[in-house]
Parts: sequence; C-alpha cells; structure tokens
Amino acid sequence: MAKNTVLVSGGAGYIGSHVTVELIEAGYNVVVADNFSNCDATCFEGVKKITGKKIPFVEMDFCDAEAVNDLFAKYKIDAVIHFAAFKAVGESVEKPVLYYKNNLCSFLNVLDAASHHGGCNVLFSSSATVYGEAENLPVTEKTPRLPATSPYGNTKQICEDILRDTVKATNVNRSPEWAIKGIALRYFNPIGAHPSALIGELPRGVPNNLVPFITQTAIGKRECLSIFGNDYPTADGTCLRDYIDVVDLAKAHVAAVARMLEGRMEEDYEIFNIGTGRPVSVYELVSAFEKVNGLKLNYKYAPRRAGDVVAIWADTALANEKLGWKAERSVEDTLASAWAWEKHIAEMEAVKASSEE
Ligand code: UFG
Repeated sequence: MAKNTVLVSGGAGYIGSHVTVELIEAGYNVVVADNFSNCDATCFEGVKKITGKKIPFVEMDFCDAEAVNDLFAKYKIDAVIHFAAFKAVGESVEKPVLYYKNNLCSFLNVLDAASHHGGCNVLFSSSATVYGEAENLPVTEKTPRLPATSPYGNTKQICEDILRDTVKATNVNRSPEWAIKGIALRYFNPIGAHPSALIGELPRGVPNNLVPFITQTAIGKRECLSIFGNDYPTADGTCLRDYIDVVDLAKAHVAAVARMLEGRMEEDYEIFNIGTGRPVSVYELVSAFEKVNGLKLNYKYAPRRAGDVVAIWADTALANEKLGWKAERSVEDTLASAWAWEKHIAEMEAVKASSEE
C-alpha cells in the first residue's frame, strides 16, 4: 500500500521539526512548508542527520491562498498538521491585528484548500491556554473553555471552532471521500529537545518561556533567571504547570494522524489534552535542572507576571485510551536534553563565528 502523505505547515519550527522526525520514523511521506517567520533552515540538517532523509520543503506563507492551493494541487495530501502561526502571548496583546490576521488566515486557507482537493484530515495545534484559570484540576477535555486573556489564546479558541464547524459542514453535505475530519491537540507546556541534540527550540531574542530562559542563563547568555512570583497559593509559592517533553508531544501527533488515516475516529471532530498529568512548580523545575545537569543556576524571585494562571495540568486519560499514547520521558531526561541542545547551539554559533572571521 502506498504510504500516506502528511503536510506539516510550520514544519521548520520547534514542535514542527520534532513532529516531522517522528512522522518519518513512523513511515509517512512528509512535506514541510514554512515561511521562516520565527525560525530558519537550521533544523533541516538535524532532521536529515536523525532520519537519513531529505524532506521535500516549500518556502511559502500560509496566508497566501494561491500558494496553499498550489501546494495541495502538487502533492496528494492525506493529512495536514497545522503549526504555521504566531505564538507569543505578550506580542499578541501589542499587535492583535497581526495575530488575528496571520493565525486565522493561514488556517482558513488550509481548510479551503483541503476542501477543494478532496477529503483531508486536519490536525490543529491548540493549547491548554483555552482553559484559562480552570476551577477544577486537572482539566479534562470537557472542562469549559474560558474567555481568552490574549489575542493569541483567542486565535486558538477561534481556530478550534472553525475546524469543528468545517468538519460538521463537510460531513453533512459531502460524500465521505470529500469530507474533512479534524483533531485538535491541546498542548500543555512543551519543553526539551530531541535526545540526539540535533534539533530543538531556537528562540529569537529574549525567550518568554521558562526552559529556554533557564538554559540561556546556564550558558551565560542571560545573567539571571527571574522566577515570576513566589507568593502563589501552592506548596512552594510558585506556579504549577504540566511540562511535556517535545518528543513525547510529537509522538502524540503521529498517534492522532494514524487514528484519522486508519478511520478509527469515533467523532468527526475530536479534542485531546496532551500533557503528562503531573503538576511541577517553577521552583521544582529549576531545582531539577540544576540537579540533573550538575550546575547552579543564577535566579531570583521577581513579581508575578501579568496573565499567568496559578496552576494548570492535564487529565490525559482520553489521549491515553483513544490515542494509545502516554508521555514517557521523565522531566529530568527532558531537562538534560534541553541543556544538551543549548550546548549544541553554542557549538553551532562558535563554528559560524569562526567561519565569518
Ligand atoms: N516563568 C518564570 N520566569 C521566566 C519565564 C517563565 O518564572 O522567565 C514562569 C511563568 O511565570 C510560569 C511558568 O514559568 O509560571 C511557565 O511559563 P512559560 O512562559 O514557559 O509557559 P506558560 O505556562 O506561560 O505558557 C504556556 C504556553 C503558551 C500558552 C500559555 C497560556 O507556552 O503557548 O501557556 O497560559 F499560551
């Protein structure tokens, strides 16, 4: 049987590159498309070294409807995993139009092209941000979504709804082979890097997220980590999150794609939480990083960061049962991989600097 082809939009980014690797290792044909708005081509070398394969790549903007259509016309795409979106919460508050325009247009173009090129399965990368400050923890997929506190979070909610409505309409009005099936994966806090240290997160400028800030502080790019708030109502006063290893997260995508392609979906549109089910405080994470990597981190307590929820972690029972997937890597192994990747970045930068001399 011919292998299925999966399009990864935004496949040169942090999560997209790890998903690309896992899809290839699971035997899929993969096409990657990206406009390098928040990344560069560095990851392709790593992906090639890990998988031994050169992946077809198209440089394009998913807001360009014609380009998206051409892509679907060129490749017979069986499933698309849509990552191509902006993701900085703070920036989205400053530039809402940019965020709404980019994140909504790109997704609408994907759905439009998918509808014009025959039945397609669509996996949308959503976020635990849709739950806001949930009353009951851990959150299940049935936990009500709360009004988004940032335009970024709102784009996740709106795209989930767009997918739900599109799936519904195409399954009512069309023959099955022209219908769109959809899955939204709600990620908790993705961290870490591939165990080979050949791909990982490459944040531009000062990182907003905790783990890249930790590793950049450890390597000396940043002077001191600020822990935002130690007066929260938690055991050690710092916020609780569900940190999910990026390779585990990538494997959840492979499981979801297989569920769609093998016709195992129970509903035409499904939602899964992708986390570990384990709450970890900021302080615990920093301590685990120090311990597993045998170093001391320069950190201080700072005021709370606006918009942070106190605590959120996932109930993962649905993903465990329906996707046959479970997060496996320990937080220590993940933090070791994050540190190995930061050291790899330093090596790449040193090579680049010496070649420019
Ligand atoms: N933190 C620090 N210092 C830092 C950075 C973060 O103490 O320098 C703390 C935060 O206050 C928070 C925890 O570390 O308590 C995690 O923060 P991140 O920025 O790494 O992650 P968030 O939980 O804020 O963000 C995640 C996703 C976003 C999503 C957001 C919604 O990464 O995509 O949840 O709340 F939008």
